[in-house]
Amino acid sequence: MKRLLPATIIAALFAVGWYHWPASPRPFTAADIAILESLTLASLPPLPPDPGNPVADDPRAAVFGHALFFDTRLSRNGGISCATCHQPERNFTDGLPKAQALGTSRRNTPSIVGTAYSPWQYWDGRRDSQWAQALSPLEDPNEHGSDRQTLVRLIAEDPDYAACYTGLFGELPDLQDAAGVDAAFANIGRVFAAYERLLMPGPAPFDEYVAAVVAGDTERQAELFSDDEVVGLQLFIGKANCTQCHNGPLLTNNEFHNTGVIAAPGELPDKGRVVGAREVLADPFNCAGAFGAGSPSACAELEFMRTGPELIGAFRTPSLRGVAETAPYMHTGQLPTLGEVVEHYNLAPLAMIGHNEAKPLKLRRGELRQLEAFLLTLSAPPAVDAKWLRAPARD
Ligand code: HEC
Ligand code: HEC
Repeated sequence: MKRLLPATIIAALFAVGWYHWPASPRPFTAADIAILESLTLASLPPLPPDPGNPVADDPRAAVFGHALFFDTRLSRNGGISCATCHQPERNFTDGLPKAQALGTSRRNTPSIVGTAYSPWQYWDGRRDSQWAQALSPLEDPNEHGSDRQTLVRLIAEDPDYAACYTGLFGELPDLQDAAGVDAAFANIGRVFAAYERLLMPGPAPFDEYVAAVVAGDTERQAELFSDDEVVGLQLFIGKANCTQCHNGPLLTNNEFHNTGVIAAPGELPDKGRVVGAREVLADPFNCAGAFGAGSPSACAELEFMRTGPELIGAFRTPSLRGVAETAPYMHTGQLPTLGEVVEHYNLAPLAMIGHNEAKPLKLRRGELRQLEAFLLTLSAPPAVDAKWLRAPARD
């Protein structure tokens, strides 16, 4: 017994050490490097056109949308703007589990940086364009709490806004003309989208690191990434299987997946995409609707979208660019820290509804820390002039 004890203690210490000890980087293979390149902003294709939005890339619309984004007069109490929840200094989120304005929203505020690339907006994809999305908060009683007629009147009565509007779209409608007001409301959404299309992520340490790997510049690699960050990246594209869903330059496949995130305390599980799919089909402002692309053939995403039971409890894969700034995490902000997020993936719990597509990872403690260290390398300010990130001066 006396002789056994030290051996047991040594074995136990060794096991604990193994559990915590961080792994070391291994060399990247050619296949790894191809994956790495596919994840950098250098691989980001040009922003696709938005067929339902003729002013999507009109600089005058972006200026107008910028003003509206920060304008609290668009809300019922005069105190709420898009930027109340999408705060530029927090990568366009609000730091809260659930958004808070006139009331409490159902879900967590996602970033809007880079979301112009997504065919679907919202965690459940219940809108199919950014301009159609922008209409919802304006009339949501928990958010701006206004209505389309009031908004069209506000624009008509503000000389600057009226000039911007008529310059882009022609005459404002008579307020009694419901169809005209609907069309003008859609146009208001379109200018928000024109602004949002400018909000693209800037190159992060990760992008610079990959450039150094491709160039074979080991000195620069060592300046940019610690060993822990390198191993974290290797786990991300390897054993931890994160790139199954978080892939491409924005680290999202823009698809819907159930990852077994438990419901917020005291709440029923959120059905997610299975409901969002029905809602986007019913949205009068969708691609196939009267204000959409003009021809159903331009709406392939909507026509061929999945609606099956595999979407129960599924949510859109969020971009991980700037993820360090967007806590708390997941659709209702259930997980306060990135540490808890990697812990969640490591365990891959059974889903409360539907089926968790992610598998348990069995990573060691040290590896979880390394994975988290890598996620912190994805931050950089948006790639736009700083003037777009604050309210425009009003004269
Ligand atoms: C009260 C806070 C709040 C306000 C105000 C608000 N949003 Fe949001 N926004 C949210 C929340 C919460 C979500 C996610 C809701 C969901 O998915 O069900 C969201 C989602 C979005 C998305 C989708 C992003 C994605 O990744 O799917 C865009 C784009 C967006 N908002 C833009 C806007 C614009 C433009 C305005 C102003 C017209 C605005 N928001 C006003 C809280 C807010
Ligand atoms: C099967 C697809 C899938 C895999 C695999 C996956 N994710 Fe996710 N990820 C998602 C989805 C979907 C969400 C949103 C889930 C929700 O809110 O319910 C998400 C959310 C996140 C978030 C929260 C982002 C935010 O803004 O709230 C982080 C961080 C994250 N994943 C990191 C990872 C890491 C790290 C891995 C690998 C260990 C990983 N993911 C593997 C699909 C996936």
